[in-house]
Amino acid sequence: EAKELASEKGFFLYLAGGPVRDALLKRASRDLDLVLEGNWEVLLPELLAKTKGELLFKSQFLTYKLRLPQGFTIDLVTARRETYTGVASLPIVEPADHKADILRRDFTINALIYGLTLPFEEEVVDLVSGLKDLSEGKICPLHRDSFIEDPTRAFRGVRYKVRLSFNYAGDFYLALERAKEVEAFEKLSPPRLAQELKLFFSKEPLENLFKLIEDSDALNLFELSLLKKRALKSSDIDILGLAIKELKPKDREKFFLLFLIELEEKSLARLGFFPPEREKILKVYKIFTKEYLENLDILERVEAFEKLPSYVLLRLALEENLRHTIMEFWNTLRHIKPHLSGHDLKALGVEEGKKVGLILREIRRRKLKGEIKTLKEEKELVKA
Ligand code: CTP
Repeated sequence: EAKELASEKGFFLYLAGGPVRDALLKRASRDLDLVLEGNWEVLLPELLAKTKGELLFKSQFLTYKLRLPQGFTIDLVTARRETYTGVASLPIVEPADHKADILRRDFTINALIYGLTLPFEEEVVDLVSGLKDLSEGKICPLHRDSFIEDPTRAFRGVRYKVRLSFNYAGDFYLALERAKEVEAFEKLSPPRLAQELKLFFSKEPLENLFKLIEDSDALNLFELSLLKKRALKSSDIDILGLAIKELKPKDREKFFLLFLIELEEKSLARLGFFPPEREKILKVYKIFTKEYLENLDILERVEAFEKLPSYVLLRLALEENLRHTIMEFWNTLRHIKPHLSGHDLKALGVEEGKKVGLILREIRRRKLKGEIKTLKEEKELVKA
């Protein structure tokens, strides 16, 4: 539909970036990026009507996200020129032709476009030797100041290297050096850094996770970004698996960020955790030593764990000395609760609200200790 509408209006339409790269590599691609040399606003009303699509959002970079009823989303991009005014700052954008749109991109393998309409219908447009680099497995930035303009590109480069088993080439290391010289990574804003790191987890298969982290580490990217990276252990994978299975998407993202770093003020702030959340995380991290937890009675321990957001609890479980206690809670203890409810207790003659609470806690304590199990035993305890 977009192709027909663009042709009618005399605009030029292209497929660009990831989908072109992946199609040439015969890999499945998740995204669809359509680039228009023209004005999407002119096409949008009819495009939405014809596809029964929904406009999800419009960004400051002249892009639109469209959700189709078939269940997938498409990025509608306006061919644009980007002008960078400062190190690691967001660019000023203005509509431009396909050449400028190619030249604003991160790596040569991502700078290939495929014509869907005239003047390059069914042709790959390759202005920067992207096809050659793709066949030789090279990750080359388009120019040596690429990472000064956008330091997240270095992390993107790591993702492509690991995902495609490619190698850094061309000006990659020079671009890194130049970005280092002007402290571009330090200047990257916390939300942009956090967003980029979340892509490690959301865009890449999990078995690549350790490789992504090792590779970023080898390039010193964490250190340059002012993060203190945590020493990873192979046993972490189990807890990561639990987080993926059991946490809500937003909590999972936070867990992943905490998974990467040492729990310390500086790194938490660097990844955009707000002061109250930082304080809370650091407070429990400080208090919850093995000795402290062992001195709590079993119910107090369960209640203390229950008060924590689950992404914090699972992060604490990555600490060797807390792992066993937290996993015992996570796998079994948290599910042990009284059969009887407050309602039942009132029916059994316990009038006072405060007493109901006390008795329910006592039932749970004894169940956690394994002293009682059945409903009958719970009722006997209430009578007593
Ligand atoms: N791009 C860029 N610099 C960035 C982010 C994106 O130049 N910091 C360009 C690249 O040309 C990229 C395109 O925008 O191909 C689309 O970005 P994105 O959807 O993030 O990446 P994909 O290429 O689709 O790759 P992935 O498979 O990692 O999603």
